[in-house]
Amino acid sequence: MFATMGALGLAPSAQAAQRELPYRAPRSGDFSLSGRGAAKVVIVGGGIAGLATAYELGKAGYDCTVLEARGRAGGRNFTVRGGDSTVDTYGNKQTARFGDGQYMNAGPARLPQWMVTLDYCRELGVPIEVFTNTNADAYLFNEGAGMTEPVRHRTAKADVYGYVAELLAKASDKGALNKELTAGDQERLVEFLKDFGSLGDKLTYEGSDRRGYSTVPAATGTPGVVLGGVPSASEVFASGVGRYFSFEFGFDQAMLMFQPVGGMDRIPQALAKAIGADRIRTGAVVGKIMDKEDGVSVTYTQGGRTRVVEADFCVGALPPNILAKVPHNLGSGVQGALEAIKPQSAGKIGLEYGSRWWETDHRIYGGITETDMDLSHIWHPSYGFHGERGVMIGYYNYDGDADAYAKLTPAKREARAVAQGVKIYGEKYRTELASSFSHHWRQTPHLEAAWHDTPGGPDDPRYKPLNEPTGRVYFAGDWLSYTDAWQHGAFTSARRAVTKLHARVMAN
Ligand code: ALA
Repeated sequence: MFATMGALGLAPSAQAAQRELPYRAPRSGDFSLSGRGAAKVVIVGGGIAGLATAYELGKAGYDCTVLEARGRAGGRNFTVRGGDSTVDTYGNKQTARFGDGQYMNAGPARLPQWMVTLDYCRELGVPIEVFTNTNADAYLFNEGAGMTEPVRHRTAKADVYGYVAELLAKASDKGALNKELTAGDQERLVEFLKDFGSLGDKLTYEGSDRRGYSTVPAATGTPGVVLGGVPSASEVFASGVGRYFSFEFGFDQAMLMFQPVGGMDRIPQALAKAIGADRIRTGAVVGKIMDKEDGVSVTYTQGGRTRVVEADFCVGALPPNILAKVPHNLGSGVQGALEAIKPQSAGKIGLEYGSRWWETDHRIYGGITETDMDLSHIWHPSYGFHGERGVMIGYYNYDGDADAYAKLTPAKREARAVAQGVKIYGEKYRTELASSFSHHWRQTPHLEAAWHDTPGGPDDPRYKPLNEPTGRVYFAGDWLSYTDAWQHGAFTSARRAVTKLHARVMAN
C-alpha cells in the first residue's frame, strides 16, 4: 500500500526515503491532542541553528525567544550589499559600496542537492538558482610551480587525464598489470583509457580538442584551430595542476550546486519572518546561562541594559568558542567539551568591477579559478550574467593565509589581492575595480570562527554533555554535526535538539 501511495505521489518513494533523513517536525496537534502545553524556550544565538530551532519548535506553538548578539540574525550566513557596515575585532570599519543588486556571500555560498538546506528553501519559498562550482573555462594557476600564465581547467584536465591514461595503458601493454588483471580485463581497461584520456592508436596522448581551441570552430571554412603547445607529461606533472580535479568528486562539492536568488541571507530572512520578528532580539549579548531545577535563566545585555529571560528550556546555539566564554553552571564536562573544539579561520574579499570583463574578454561565466597563491580560490559570480557590473570573490582562503590578510587594513587587503589577481587575469583586474569589501570570520565579533575543528568527531564521548541535554540546556550547531561549515549541519543539529526537547516535553 505504501508503494502504491508512493507511486501516486502520496508517500515518499523508496529512493527518496533512502536519501532523506527521518525527521518529524513538532505539530500543534501534539499538544491539543494530548492536553499538554507548549513550553517556553530561550535560544541563545540567532544563526542558522538557532533560527531553525525556533522555527521548528514554533510549528508546535512553543514560546521561543532568540537572543542574537549581532545586529542581524543569520550568524555566518551573511550577505554583504551596498551600505552594509562591519567592524572587525582589530577595529577595521568597512562599509560596502557595491551597486544595486550586487552582493557577496561572505559566509556560506553554495548548496549541494542532497543537503536539507534546499528543503528549507523549498518550504520557506526561497527561490534558488545554479551555483557554478566547477567551470571548464575557469583557470588554474600555480605560481610556485613556475607557471607564468594561467591554464584553463579543461586544458589542464585533458593533459592530466591524457598522460595518466597513457602511462597506465602502456604499463598494461608491457605486462606490468598481469598479476592484477586477466588479459580480458586489461583489454577492457585499455579500451576505457583510450576513451578517458583521448589516446591515439599507439596508446599515446598527443593532445586533443578537449584542450580547447585558439580559434573556435564555426561555419564552413572555419574548422577551428585546436590549442597548440601540448606540454610533455613531465611538464604537466611538474605544474601541479592535477591536484585540483578531485575537488569536483567531493560528495559535498560536486555539481550541480545551488544558491538562493539574491543572496544566501534570503534563508535567515525567511526563517526570521516565519518565526516572527518580535521573537528575535538582536544586539542581545548573553552574559550568563543558569540551569535550575525547574527552568533556566539567561542573562543578557541589550542597549546597555541587563535583562533576564526565564524559560523552561534553553538551546545553546552559539559557536562553541563563544559559548565557552559565557559563565554558566553546567559543569566542567560542558566547559571541557566546548574548549576542545577549536575555531578555524577563513576570509573572503568581494571585488566589485564596473564591467564583467571575465565574461567578455575571458569567456568565463561563473565558476572558480584555483591558485597556489595566498588567495587560494577566486570565484566568478554565478548571478547577474551579462550585467553591467559584477562582484568577484578575489580571495577565499583559510588558516594562515586568511589570518595574514586579516592583519592588513582593508585597503591593503585589496591591494594585495589585486596584485596577485593581475598575474592571472591581466591589468583589467586592477583598472576595472570599483570597490571592495573583505570579511574575516576569526576576526568577526560574537562569532570569531569560520568553522571549527572537533577532534575525534562530534560523536566522541567527550562531547556527550553537548549532545545530550545538560539539565534543561541543549546545544545545536554545525559544529555538532558531520557537516561542519555547512548550513545542513546547523539545520540537522537543530532538528536533533528539537526532537529530543519535544519528546521530553511530550513525555512529562
Ligand atoms: N562549506 C564551505 C565551503 O563550501 C567550507 O567552502
